[in-house]
Amino acid sequence: MKKPILILAIESSCDDTSAAIIRDGEILVNLTATQNIHEHYGGVVPEMASRAHLQNIVPVVTAALQKAGVKKTELTAIACTQAPGLLGSLIVGFNFAKGLAQGLNIPFLAIHHMQAHILAHWATAPQPQFPFLCLTVSGGHTQLVLLKDFFEMEIIGTTIDDAAGEAFDKAAKMLGLPYPGGPLIDKYAQLGNPNKFEFSKPQIQGFNYSFSGLKTSILYFLQKQVQANPNFIHENLNDLCAAIQQTIITILLQKFIKAAKQYKVKNIGIAGGVSANGALRKRMLALEEQGQFKVFIPEFQYCTDNAGMIAVAAYQKFLKGKIDTLDLAPQAKMSFMQF
Ligand code: KG4
Ligand code: ZN
Repeated sequence: MKKPILILAIESSCDDTSAAIIRDGEILVNLTATQNIHEHYGGVVPEMASRAHLQNIVPVVTAALQKAGVKKTELTAIACTQAPGLLGSLIVGFNFAKGLAQGLNIPFLAIHHMQAHILAHWATAPQPQFPFLCLTVSGGHTQLVLLKDFFEMEIIGTTIDDAAGEAFDKAAKMLGLPYPGGPLIDKYAQLGNPNKFEFSKPQIQGFNYSFSGLKTSILYFLQKQVQANPNFIHENLNDLCAAIQQTIITILLQKFIKAAKQYKVKNIGIAGGVSANGALRKRMLALEEQGQFKVFIPEFQYCTDNAGMIAVAAYQKFLKGKIDTLDLAPQAKMSFMQF
C-alpha cells in the first residue's frame, strides 16, 4: 500500500498559535490557541505575542498530533508560515518547524500567509474552479487576487492605506469596543439599522481600495454627535455598527463585482479574517442567488488565522516538489508569487 502524505503545518504570524495535520489533502485536525492578552491593549503587542507563542507551541503541536492519532515519525513533511507577519511571532513557529524537520530528517515547506488564506477554499468541498477571483480581507491586507492555478496568483487590486479588518478594528475602537473589534461590530450590527447613518465612500479609480477616508469620516461624525449628546454612542451602538459594517462591505463588493465582470470570472470567493463577517457572507450568497457567480465562502475555522490553510497550501506545494531549504529565514525574499 502507498504511504500517505502526512504534513504537520504551523501558523504563528500574529496572535494565534495554530497546528494542523493534513493527510493526502484531507485536514485531520486544525487546532488554535488564541491569545486573549492583547484585548486590554487595543491591539496586538508584538513582544507579548512572541512570548505567548513560545508557551503555546509545544502544547498545541502535541495536542494536534494526539488528536489526529499521528506519531511524529509518521510525518512526511513539516510546513510553516514564512511571511508576512510579526517578525518575533514568525520566528517562533518558523524555527520550531525547521528544528522539527531537521530532527526528523524530513522536508520543510515555507508558506506565504496570504496565499494560504486563499487556498483555504480547498480545505473542504465544494472547491472553486480556475480562474478564481478571491477577495482577501484580513487585519493587514485587502487584496483582489486572480488565480489561474494554485501557483499562479496575480494581485489585481490592493488597499493603498488601511486594510478592511483594520477599518473594522479602528472604527470599533472609536466606539469604545475592545480589540479585535471586527467580530463585535458584526455582533451589534445584527440588531441595528444599517441605513440610519451614512458615511463617505472613497472614489478611487481601478481596483485599489482605500479606507482611511472612511475612518476620518466616522471620527468627525462621532466627535460632533458626542459633543451634542455625550451618550450618543451608547444610545446608537447597534445602528452605528450596522452602518459602518454596511459601508465597508459596499466598498469591498463594488470593486470585487466590477473586477469579476471585467476579468470574466464566474468563480468568486472571500478569504481572511473579515470573511467571517455575517453580513459579508450574506451579501456574497445573495450574489450567487442572482445567478451571475458561483460563490465560495470558507468555513469559519478557515477564515481567521489557522494552520489548516497552511496545511492545504503545503500539500499543494509538496505535490509540485517545491521543497525549501533549512537556511531560509522568516520574511526573507518571500514575494507573493514566490510559492
Ligand atoms: O486573517 P486574520 O485572522 O488575521 C490577519 O491575518 O490579519 O484577520 C483578523 C481581522 C481582524 O481585523 C478582525 O477584526 C477581523 O479579521 N474579523 C472580523 C470578523 N472576524 C474577524 N471583521 C468583521 N467581522 C467579523 N466577524
Ligand atoms: Zn491572516
